[in-house]
Amino acid sequence: MNILLTGGLGFIGSHTAVEILQNTNYRVIFLDNLYNSNPLTLDRICEIANNEKVTHKCFSILEKDKLEEVFKNYNIDCVIHFAALKSVPESISNPSNYYQTNIIGSINLLDCMVKYNVKKIVFSSSATVYSDHLPPLHEDMSIKLNQTNPYGTNKAMMEKIIEEYSRAYGINAINLRYFNPIGAHPSGLIGENPKKELTNLFPSLMDVLKGKKEYLHIFGDDYQTEDGSAERDYIHICDLASAHLCAVRYLNRFKGCIPINVGYGYGTSVFKIIKIFEEQNNIKIPIKISPRREGDLPSVYCVPDKAKTLLGWKPKFTIEDACLHAYHYFSNQ
Ligand code: WQD
Repeated sequence: MNILLTGGLGFIGSHTAVEILQNTNYRVIFLDNLYNSNPLTLDRICEIANNEKVTHKCFSILEKDKLEEVFKNYNIDCVIHFAALKSVPESISNPSNYYQTNIIGSINLLDCMVKYNVKKIVFSSSATVYSDHLPPLHEDMSIKLNQTNPYGTNKAMMEKIIEEYSRAYGINAINLRYFNPIGAHPSGLIGENPKKELTNLFPSLMDVLKGKKEYLHIFGDDYQTEDGSAERDYIHICDLASAHLCAVRYLNRFKGCIPINVGYGYGTSVFKIIKIFEEQNNIKIPIKISPRREGDLPSVYCVPDKAKTLLGWKPKFTIEDACLHAYHYFSNQ
């Protein structure tokens, strides 16, 4: 059987590909235009998984004719759709690119699935869709299409579009709502290695370690939280990856369309995660307290029960592991 990973050479896609290649006999077809990923990642995925059942197609999901060729030439059993632009600030300054790739590109993919009778999709959604709901966030909370930024609106719209394609064309879908993925594969061979500069916490922390930034700016220490810094539901990237394989397997028996949270179910503050990172790696991170970042929420964490009860997902790692593995990957570069 063939499984198509759009954006499969990215941070989450590459770790999911390792999980699939290590645990199934699927052939993994990577559709990745290398806009924000590195071709070397494919070799490292095969090295870790000790499995060469891979094919890489290098073009954008906006190239519908080429996309259709992949569906025509390979008997796709399931799609995991990672390919998307994902910078919140960039989506605000350049919404056109975001609606092109994240919406039109995704509709191209869904239309190919309908035409070639591919009935299973796992979609990379995001905790962002919960907008300003208060935690603990659970899947039956109402989701607004009109979010605080185009990136969030893209994700909410795509969940709605997938739900309607599911109802009309019988596609079975799981919209995985990611919280904050961090860390790297324990081997140190793959990790978060974007071409585009990211403003997220761990990429910023890595920039300090690389000497690209003098300080790690703490965006606000006056939130109504335990230590004043904002809390997030950080999850080891390998636990997020295993949730995708659980979702693919669940689609063998599930009919319909369902959102599912993937997080550990508790918040960790920025100060706390920096402390864990320093203790795990015996280093000191220079920090500077800065004003709150526009749009940030005080606390975001989920109820992960559905992932555990429906998908049979069993997290194996901890935030401590993620901090250790992130530094191991950094030291390996
Ligand atoms: C985490 C915390 C910041 C950088 C984003 C996306 C969301 C999802 C997860 C994809 C916040 C603080 C950050 C820094 C800091 N992505 N921070 N200094 O904003 O929770 O969510 O990633 O699905 O869609 O929006 O993640 O890593 O940017 O921030 O203090 O240099 O770290 O204020 O409290 P966020 P983040």
